[in-house]
Amino acid sequence: MLTTDVLVIGSGLAGLRLALSLADQAHVTVLTKRTRVQGSSSQAQGGIAAAWRPEDSWEAHVDDTLVAGAGLCRREVVERTAREAKLRVQELIDFGVEFDRSKDDPHLYDLHQEGGHSTRRILHAKDLTGSEIMRALFERVDAHPNIEVHEHLMVVDLLTEGWLARTNGDIPPSEDRVLGAYVLETSSGEVELFAAKVVALCAGGAGQVYLHTTNPEVASGDGIAMGYRAGARVANMEFVQFHPTSLYYPGGRSFLISEALRGEGGVLRGADGEPFMARYDERLELAPRDIVARAIDAELKRTGDSCVYLDMTHLPADETRAHFPNIDAWCRASGIDLTKRPIPVVPAAHYVCGGVMTDLHGETSIRNLFALGENACTGLHGANRLASNSLLEAVSFAVHAGVEIGRRLGDMSRPQGLPEWDTGNAGDPVEQVTTAHLWDEIRRFMWNYVGIVRTSRRLRRARRRLDLVNEEIRDHYWDYQLTPDIVELRNIATVAELVVESALRRRESRGLHYILDYPESDRRFVRETVLQRRA
Ligand code: SIN
Repeated sequence: MLTTDVLVIGSGLAGLRLALSLADQAHVTVLTKRTRVQGSSSQAQGGIAAAWRPEDSWEAHVDDTLVAGAGLCRREVVERTAREAKLRVQELIDFGVEFDRSKDDPHLYDLHQEGGHSTRRILHAKDLTGSEIMRALFERVDAHPNIEVHEHLMVVDLLTEGWLARTNGDIPPSEDRVLGAYVLETSSGEVELFAAKVVALCAGGAGQVYLHTTNPEVASGDGIAMGYRAGARVANMEFVQFHPTSLYYPGGRSFLISEALRGEGGVLRGADGEPFMARYDERLELAPRDIVARAIDAELKRTGDSCVYLDMTHLPADETRAHFPNIDAWCRASGIDLTKRPIPVVPAAHYVCGGVMTDLHGETSIRNLFALGENACTGLHGANRLASNSLLEAVSFAVHAGVEIGRRLGDMSRPQGLPEWDTGNAGDPVEQVTTAHLWDEIRRFMWNYVGIVRTSRRLRRARRRLDLVNEEIRDHYWDYQLTPDIVELRNIATVAELVVESALRRRESRGLHYILDYPESDRRFVRETVLQRRA
């Protein structure tokens, strides 16, 4: 058994920021299932939102966030996050993050505009903001003697007092408490126990539940799935954000075409060259993402085309290239000069607004289990996340969680005498082809039946398929040795189930959840959809 004070699951922005908040008073162990830069944070293009200019105000940022969230944001969370946004960004700058400066006045930062924001307030580092922030934070993390980052360690499940009691045939405590996690060493297949005073789920998103996604391969919803299995409350999983513009490149990997391109004047056109957003929203290309994604979906259904086009050709070529070097390079590698011809784009799954429910400190319904970043549902995003609020949420909640954990740590001791992982009679690992097939099946029916526009019938179909798939996964899980693929597959299936179940329960359309049987919003549903596994 390995022990630590704080076990952080995931090496993205939320995890690193939490580690840095606590490292002067605690030993922090960060686990990542592949290499440490493979998560979504490093790939974030757009930036981080803060009312930075004197003519902007945190109250306006609050208003924009609430409008996007369509009645389901927690106001106190939104207000605190927007009010403290400048401070959180300044802390990043103090850590060494270099945001782009204005070309007219290098004392000022260059601010981008994105959909749903009433003004320019996105600090960015070209179109590589995430990788710049992570560079600076990793420099700090690597220099700190109290933080260890371990790669190729994948958490299988959390260990809680309730689980222990049930396994021993005892009555579980009324308030559950986390004790640690079982962790798969991905090269050897060994499962180790990590005991910890505090565990933080910072495992990122779940875009891999869908066939088309802007997310990296690692985004298999691990934090949400393991939090749910442990008995934590999970909320709002029906609100999956589809980014309107990912590169359409059949046979290639999806690649995000940042909303900031529309903020700089990019125009969406159909295959006939005609702009179409005026038919859907007076804010045109800068309407909130759900509206733009649905507009594109409707255009594709209406015309039967495979993609629409984002046109940047009327803008100064040098400026476009200078602002978006990463997107420019990716498009060129795909044979597209974005300054000369419109970029073919389609929507793709981008961000899960739901997740493991937390309070204002980022703590879940299980004592000492925190959830931060995309795998959390803090109440900031409500039914639809405002662009560039996610990096902000990650750092904001990491700081508040750090304060709360720091206050408690002194009175806590590291758990002792916990049971090691029991491999039982597990046989050789299940064949890779079987896991690949099941994964592909889930991603396809999630895309086709639980996508941008839903119906109750399609959701029920997805649920029937999931029941069958889950039965098969359960057999593989217990009868064969664990592999990273089977652990991720189980997580994907759990998250898919949570999305479908939540979508079926919300009998109205709101924010990102649009269902043809109930096309209007209904006041009776101004509440979070909460799911909790009963033992
Ligand atoms: C983008 O650059 O369009 C993505 C930003 C975000 O998801 O907040």
